[in-house]
Amino acid sequence: MARTIHAALLGAGTVGGGVYRLLERREGEMVNKLGAALEIKTILVRDAKKPRAGIPPEKLTERFEDILSDPEIDIVIELMGGIDPAKRYVEEALAAGKHVVTANKDLLAEHGFELAETAAARGLDLRFEASVAGGIPILTPLMTCLEGNDITEVMGIVNGTTNFILTRMTNEGTDFADALREAQALGFAEADPTADVEGLDAARKVAILASLAFHSHVTFSDVPTVGITKITAKDIGYAREMGYVIKLIGIARSTNGEIEVGVSPMMIPKRHPLASVNDSFNAVFVHGDALDDAMFQGRGAGAFPTASAVVGDLIAVSRDILAGCNGRVRLNPYRGLPLQSRGNAAHRFYLRLRVEDRPGILASVAGVLGNNDVGISQVIQKQRTEDDAEIVVITDRVQTRHMEDALTIFGSMSVIRDVSSVIRVYSEKP
Ligand code: NAP
Ligand code: HSE
Repeated sequence: MARTIHAALLGAGTVGGGVYRLLERREGEMVNKLGAALEIKTILVRDAKKPRAGIPPEKLTERFEDILSDPEIDIVIELMGGIDPAKRYVEEALAAGKHVVTANKDLLAEHGFELAETAAARGLDLRFEASVAGGIPILTPLMTCLEGNDITEVMGIVNGTTNFILTRMTNEGTDFADALREAQALGFAEADPTADVEGLDAARKVAILASLAFHSHVTFSDVPTVGITKITAKDIGYAREMGYVIKLIGIARSTNGEIEVGVSPMMIPKRHPLASVNDSFNAVFVHGDALDDAMFQGRGAGAFPTASAVVGDLIAVSRDILAGCNGRVRLNPYRGLPLQSRGNAAHRFYLRLRVEDRPGILASVAGVLGNNDVGISQVIQKQRTEDDAEIVVITDRVQTRHMEDALTIFGSMSVIRDVSSVIRVYSEKP
């Protein structure tokens, strides 16, 4: 008779429900696959009376204590989200000698290192593959298959909701609010979708990726973040005319012993592979000294793609339990690289300015940019109304602080009605 490994789910929402159903699908082959059966014994929810399709009500509890005090439960799978009480429950599970699998990037991006230390000190597994890029295997490869490399760049599209919204806005002219509602209905969005559209979810994922790739301590608050709420149909249209597509991009680079991280909308040339990553798909580029470039692409959100990563972790932990070798792989910040000061990071920018329509204005705009070391790559006068003109500028690669100095001066010039948009433009790594 094969052994049964018991696990508990904390949460039975989009991802928890997907995990339960995926394990049911694989139930018949688990003993052959693993050498043991896997059973979800107990499921913690806020409201145990709420009907949940396909989940036996007798497994539901509203008391975490029922899971913590059950000696049969070896693995706790945290799929509730947020920091509190998720952090406390994960800490208590580890203290009780239970392995943890989680999809919670909020928790990992702020407290990943302390939780990893606690798990390692107790010889327990803490796995979190689903916390970045949904179903795409990216964290385990960084921690195992790619360990022989000096990784210098990890960048790409790491939020499914915003990619879905931008794709709908670009390809179908869908309104932002309608596209967001569709993403929520499909289960891609966070409980509070502000985390998606303001780039915070992507910033948490960038912090986790940078920590793993560069073996350094990078947390959520270290990642300068701009979301997609200010992207307009006009910018999408101008980008298209100039041969670009707008995507929300997360970047983690290590250059000259310093780490640059950030999340922002970016104009990507149409020929670049990221430009054709659409809908809820994510894609992550990794550059390593031995590997060169690799791209990981797949579904970044949704019940089953995310469940795929969670169940993969669950099987990995179960294998370690059966082999008696838990706690082998962990977050380890042994390099401790510092963060680059934000103003020194160099980028190209797209600017859309509404200006007074009279002779000499274009020259004044060019003068301010030139005086602040901002080189111009392209300038187009886009549109004239009664007394307004619209100027679109694409800059060369310039230091962020120089760009910011020029924008401050634009803000004080009466002939410039407003700086309507500032969007980064993709440039190859330096
Ligand atoms: P969700 O649909 O909102 O589900 C959350 C579940 O947790 C619900 O079943 C809820 O119970 C339960 N829960 C929340 N707070 C609780 C508490 N204090 N006590 C007991 N139960 C509690 O969320 P989700 O989309 O599945 O996301 C779960 C986690 O996976 C989050 O960390 C998220 O960031 C991450 N994630 C999500 C996706 C995705 O595509 N959705 C992808 C990757 C990672 P009730 O049902 O009773 O309310
Ligand atoms: N809300 C997240 C997204 C879920 O849209 O990518 C996957 O982490």
